[in-house]
Amino acid sequence: MNTISALTGRKLILGITGGIAAYKAAELARLLIKEGVIIQTVMTQAACRFLGPETLHALTGNPVYTELWGDSLQNSMAHIELTRSSDVILIVPTSANFIAKLAQGIADDLLSTLCLARNCPLIIAPAMNKQMFENPATQRNLNTLRADQITIWGPAMGDQACGENGLGRMLEPAQLQQALQGFFEPQWLDGKKVLITAGPTYEPIDAVRGIINLSSGKMGYAIASAASNAGATVTLIAGPVHLPRPTVQQFISVTSADQMFAVVKKEVKNCDIFISVAAVADYRPKTYQSQKIKKSNQPLTLELVPNPDILQYVAHLKKPPFCVGFAAETEKLDQYAQKKRQQKRLPLIVANLAQQAMGADESTLILFDDHGKHVLPHAPKSELARQLIKHIGQLFEKQGT
Ligand code: C5P
Repeated sequence: MNTISALTGRKLILGITGGIAAYKAAELARLLIKEGVIIQTVMTQAACRFLGPETLHALTGNPVYTELWGDSLQNSMAHIELTRSSDVILIVPTSANFIAKLAQGIADDLLSTLCLARNCPLIIAPAMNKQMFENPATQRNLNTLRADQITIWGPAMGDQACGENGLGRMLEPAQLQQALQGFFEPQWLDGKKVLITAGPTYEPIDAVRGIINLSSGKMGYAIASAASNAGATVTLIAGPVHLPRPTVQQFISVTSADQMFAVVKKEVKNCDIFISVAAVADYRPKTYQSQKIKKSNQPLTLELVPNPDILQYVAHLKKPPFCVGFAAETEKLDQYAQKKRQQKRLPLIVANLAQQAMGADESTLILFDDHGKHVLPHAPKSELARQLIKHIGQLFEKQGT
């Protein structure tokens, strides 16, 4: 389902320079086109050695520019014409050589010339061998770019095409897409510290078995991305989730409710907003068997004891952060959610139907706060997360006035 996002209708110059990560620019273009971004691609000669311009032409539906001296643009002033009609230039990947050219203001091909002639923001995603990245010349050049207000995304640590491992790997296309979305998103949570729990918890029975639930972590991860895009500093605490991690300031992986509780107690101290999306297990086995329980033909009784209610604990602190709870119910959604909001003393609770929401990519959310009931109609979780973050940002502001 296509929805309007902060990226829809944005005009982007996608610059591609020569590096093996150039192939990832094609995937990024595909993701951005899906979001309704209008892309004009400009490739350096070296980029064309790694990736055919035809690929980008086919993906974006627009001609690809590679020449400063071509006649493909009407007034032969490609460098001026392209930037005047763009919201942003994003260069993916950006080579060490191109970084050096940007730092010096060199304009010897179309991409470097239009960077110099631009009147829109410039973002680069560096990718190179770790030695090239660590070289003092590259570091000096990157500092110059920062001082020139050029935004730099990445690089990340990881395996490199040359067989080495280190800092220099380009951010993945999905991470760049998220970052670009954040770049255009209204900053509802600018400067706020937000703590989020997500996913299920796993309560071990013995060395190889445990109790888990159907939470996928999709909603919690989408909310973490949306909060981060809205300017928040996000700490995400997640139970066992099998999804790519969103880009957040701090990610802490836990297994059981007890572990999640211990981490929340530590992390909640400095946070402004706590969003408890995790489907925390209400009970855990009373005893844990370190060896595998052997099978017999006799019935086996598992004694369960209640887990701590993490949200209840946080909401009842002397100076609680702004607390947002979730209520996944299979029936009587409004009634149960409102009761929970009262019991846990929450300014906001988000209700959804468990059988529809758990594991799905789309959902419907019903919000209850002091002003009443608000329905966020059926939409992808990423879209619902954006709307929810806006709602939280507005409530948080009101509370402070
Ligand atoms: O009471 P119930 O478990 O239905 O409440 C759901 C809300 O409480 C969710 O926001 C969930 O993250 C939170 N919760 C919690 N600790 C528990 C159980 C639920 O933080 N042990």
